Order: sequence, then structure tokens, then C-alpha cells
Amino acid sequence: MKAAPGSFASQGDIAAEIAAIAAEYQRTRGPVGQDVQPRLDYPPYRSSALRHPKHPLVSVDPEEVERCAPCFGHRDVDPLDADLTAGHPGEPIGERIILAGRVLDESGRPVAGQLIEIWQANAGGRYRHHLDQHPAPLDPNFRGAGRCLTGPDGTYRFLTIKPGPYPWRNHRNAWRPAHIHFSVFGTAFTQRLVTQMYFPGDPLFDLDPIFQSVVDRAARERLIARYEHDLTEPEYATGYRWDIVLSGARRTWTEL
Ligand SMILES: [Fe+2]
Repeated sequence: MKAAPGSFASQGDIAAEIAAIAAEYQRTRGPVGQDVQPRLDYPPYRSSALRHPKHPLVSVDPEEVERCAPCFGHRDVDPLDADLTAGHPGEPIGERIILAGRVLDESGRPVAGQLIEIWQANAGGRYRHHLDQHPAPLDPNFRGAGRCLTGPDGTYRFLTIKPGPYPWRNHRNAWRPAHIHFSVFGTAFTQRLVTQMYFPGDPLFDLDPIFQSVVDRAARERLIARYEHDLTEPEYATGYRWDIVLSGARRTWTEL
């Protein structure tokens, strides 16, 4: 039964809605790889009701200035920006991780020189942001944002802390699986893509309407990094690998 307007649904209500949409998708699905983007109108994700476009999108030609600005100089990005554990008097609390991968085009060719920005909650699941006031501790040694440029082979690499899950107010007792937000900048602001990366084995996957709004299972699973022991450094940090594919049937889910 749906919760009354203005009241919070239970996790059971949300899970039932997620399951009904998944079943309908399985019944009516088109060719594999066709439905790899998140549903913009996804009722279990409550705020999507107010935020999704109600009319067909209008294509506009960006003006010349939008094609090339704002831009950044490669010298503006310091290699230390990729180390989210640095820049404070002490070490941040939590599981230190190395996060690496490649940015690839549809054919699997590396995309070099891409500005990748990440932002995340700390190990306790709290963002350093005034809107995040849930009672988890802030870490004075962790800001939660970093950036780097992809190398000639499309690789990126960050050193950070594994974020914790955090509560949100989509429904009663709603928790987001641990994730890291990614932005791939392109060569101009109009090309920017934003997405989220998750960690393997998270028990919250099935309960989370944002993760489940990507209704295609294979597309959803491409958002999950894999643990890679060769990336793990002895007595220092565990390693996770996650590639971002910009176009084609294996395209990474992006927020619009
Ligand atoms: Fe988040």
C-alpha cells in the first residue's frame, strides 16, 4: 500500500515499487543495451517526480563560447589533488583505498587529458557540507573532494578513504549504498558528465531507488568497482578499479 501524501513510505513500500518496475521492465524490455540510462521519472526515487522533464527535451546548438569555455589549464591541476588523504595535519579515519581506472570511448580507446573530479562522504557517511547534518562525525582530516587528469592511456588514480553509507529522506529508514560521485569534464562545460561509483557486495543495492533507477541490470552493475588485489599496496591501501565508458552500448550511467 502506498503511503499517504506527505508521509514517509516504508522501505517495504519502496522495495515493492522497485520490484514492480523491474518486473515490468523484464516483461517489456527491448534490445540489450537500449535502456542503460537511469529513469528520470522513477517514482520510488520520490524527488524525481518534481525534477524530471515533463516535455520532450529541446536540442539547442551551444554557442561558440559554450563549446570552449570554461576551460582549465593542465598546469592548474596539481598531482597532489588526487590524494584525498593529504593536505591536513593528520591522517583521515577509515579504510584507505586506491581507486583507479580508465576513461574509454565506445571502441575502448583511451580518452586522455580528461579532468575527473570526485566528491564523497567520509568513512562515517557524512559530507563536509552545511546541508548534511545527520549525527555522524566530521573528520577534520578529510575534505572529501579531489581531481586529476587522465594520462595518455586514459588512466586516472586517486588515493582516498572508503566512504560510509548515509541516511537520506526519500523514505523512512532510507540509506544510500556507499558511493563516490564522479564528474568527467570533457573539453567544455557543456560536455560534463556526472555519475556515481559503488563498491562490490553492498547490502543496500536492492533497497536504493537511485541505484535501481538504472533498470537494466548489466548497466547497473557497470557502476560497481571491482576489488583488484594487484592494485592493493601491502600494509597501506586496498585497491579498486572502475572504468568509465563515454558512449556506446556499454556506456556508463550518467546523471542528466
Ligand atoms: Fe552522495
